Amino acid sequence: MDDPLQRQACQTDLVNRLSTSQLAIAACLALATIACAPSDTPKSVDSATQNARIALGKRLFFDARLSATGEVSCASCHNPRLAFSDARAASQGVHGKAGTRNAPSLLQTATERNFFWDGREQRLEAAVLQPFTNPVEMGLADGALMQRVRAQPDYRADLQAAYPERGDAIGEAELGAALAAYLRSLPRDRSDYDRHAAGDRDALSAEQLAGLEVFRGKAQCASCHLSTGAPATFTDDGFHHLGVNDAAIAGRVAQLLQELPPPGPTLGRTVLSRADIAGLGRFAVTRKPADLAAFRTPSLRNVAATAPYMHDGSVATLEAAVDQEIYYRSLKHGRPISLTVAERRQLLAFLQALTDRDYVASAQP
Ligand code: HEC
Ligand code: HEC
Repeated sequence: MDDPLQRQACQTDLVNRLSTSQLAIAACLALATIACAPSDTPKSVDSATQNARIALGKRLFFDARLSATGEVSCASCHNPRLAFSDARAASQGVHGKAGTRNAPSLLQTATERNFFWDGREQRLEAAVLQPFTNPVEMGLADGALMQRVRAQPDYRADLQAAYPERGDAIGEAELGAALAAYLRSLPRDRSDYDRHAAGDRDALSAEQLAGLEVFRGKAQCASCHLSTGAPATFTDDGFHHLGVNDAAIAGRVAQLLQELPPPGPTLGRTVLSRADIAGLGRFAVTRKPADLAAFRTPSLRNVAATAPYMHDGSVATLEAAVDQEIYYRSLKHGRPISLTVAERRQLLAFLQALTDRDYVASAQP
């Protein structure tokens, strides 16, 4: 609870409840302050140390020496100019090995609750470490990451500044925390849509404004890609399936279940190297039939910069992705959503307004 308003509300609530007892108001306030102290933030560090962690995270993110071949960094697949995605259908890691999934933008990680298309990880600090050892990503052996970082003399001062108390006790967990701090520190919510939401009447063109209406109204996109909230995330953090290809997987589910590792890094390795298991979607994590071939609703922020689309990158253009969404989401509703040519154009114009042009224009954030 690091939102001051929330904390204040919590304190007022506690004081209201306690004041019926004989406790003095002063004691109540003291108690409320303790009870309402931020609990989910790690022990607070001073801003210089926090900045050093972000700088360390950034350095790790762009460092190809931390891969088996010395050629692949996080940024190879999460390019800032593409809103931290790559332009491939499925990403390519060390030795040119292709994975099974499309690299998502990382600009939303600060507000996301589940990571990866199947939501197999809830902690960003853990999610950021998995690519190092995934054979189709950076391909390091278990334990090799820390050795590599220590072997580079140029990291010594960065590690010391980021974790001044830890000395030699710095391990992968600290590197994960630094990478997560870097991703959370990336500026976001700077699109034309955000300027519109903040009251700038000229931020969106007439066509984009009409597109926002279509998005929220007739096309019902906002029922999953939520456009409420300040700032809106354009996702419901949920998992949904299109209902196509279910039959193809259905016959094999029993067999695939036997080959399915439990959630954790091993699951990630299997998912990214086996297309059939990757196709199980959320089911690979929960094993609930309703989650078969269900995938996380991606945020549509920066969507115009992240082609190709969908969990497997199977849709090449934004136009085709929107058409597919209209078609299959209509099927799911049991009644067609039919947009006029103008409405479709407006919808596409609106999606362009979700791009943070500062990233797209810059070489590095
Ligand atoms: C070979 C390409 C590749 C490399 C290298 C790579 N990633 Fe990714 N990343 C992906 C793909 C593909 C996914 C989606 C995987 C999935 O959903 O199963 C992903 C997903 C993620 C996610 C989850 C995002 C979300 O919204 O769910 C995070 C966080 C992430 N990567 C961070 C990193 C970091 C940090 C590094 C470097 C240590 C890195 N990635 C290296 C391709 C790559
Ligand atoms: C029932 C929830 C739901 C509704 C309604 C919905 N979407 Fe989606 N959308 C999803 C999910 C889930 C995915 C990911 C599907 C996948 O990868 O298999 C997705 C993917 C997308 C993508 C690809 C994004 C990317 O990064 O790959 C676009 C673009 C998109 N939706 C636009 C729309 C538009 C436009 C509408 C309205 C016509 C809409 N969606 C309605 C849930 C929904």
